[in-house]
Amino acid sequence: MNAKIIDGKGFAATVRDRVAKTVERLKADAGITPGLAVVLVGEDPASEVYVRSKGKATLEAGMNSWEHKLDADTSEQDLLALIERLNNDPAVHGILVQLPLPDHLDPDVVINAIDPAKDVDGFHISNVGLLGTGQKSMVPCTPLGCLLMLREHHGSLSGLNAVIVGRSNIVGKPMAQLLLNDSCTVTIAHSRTRDLAEVCRNADILVAAVGRPRMIPGDWVKPGATVIDVGINRIESEGKTRLVGDVDFASASAVAGAITPVPGGVGPMTIACLLANTVTACSRAHG
Ligand code: GUN
Repeated sequence: MNAKIIDGKGFAATVRDRVAKTVERLKADAGITPGLAVVLVGEDPASEVYVRSKGKATLEAGMNSWEHKLDADTSEQDLLALIERLNNDPAVHGILVQLPLPDHLDPDVVINAIDPAKDVDGFHISNVGLLGTGQKSMVPCTPLGCLLMLREHHGSLSGLNAVIVGRSNIVGKPMAQLLLNDSCTVTIAHSRTRDLAEVCRNADILVAAVGRPRMIPGDWVKPGATVIDVGINRIESEGKTRLVGDVDFASASAVAGAITPVPGGVGPMTIACLLANTVTACSRAHG
């Protein structure tokens, strides 16, 4: 079998068009321009690339974008002071602090200092609790993007066996909540899971979010399953840097019913959902 390729890039373009139209309407009808502030501490090269593409996409959607680049040795006090300023700025509807932070900064303290209504990452403890209890919240962008692709492909997800490999706060745990809210039977697997291959073979929906290049081979995939590959791993191959996922695409796509490619799958949807969350935060702020 040859899997259908789930076109995250194309779907993301549709979401971004929809966001841009909503932005136009907010500007024309209410004189409001949604705005996103992104904070980057230090010089992690991958984070710099992500932050640049988030800023570019924000501007392309017609929104205001602010990039706050702070030195790697910025104190917690200075970072919290910036967050407080952004919390109190009515032109800023969304605040994103790029992770990971340098070791001397506690990400829990920093994230929980963001106004939950402006927490477009959905990482604040209030948003985590709201999502966990099925209430209206800001939903983390990467799992939200995965969910939208799954709904688009399957329609209803009710009753499907979903296996998520990876238990991070950014992807694995919120992905599990979202799939549970959509009535999947959810398993979170991780590095200590016994017989991971067998657990994966039970999945109608397999979400790979471990950050290890090509860790999941095709013979862990149930024939006809939908595979969502969240991994973005840089590897050296034939003297060039390439991006590969957590799934071995060549063998998995011969077995799966549908699969997201890397690049061009989950990545573009993450950015599209960040824009959508910013517009949502703006609309809620202006009631
Ligand atoms: N680092 C990797 N992914 C993310 C994300 O979704 N949000 C933030 N803030 N940092 C990240």
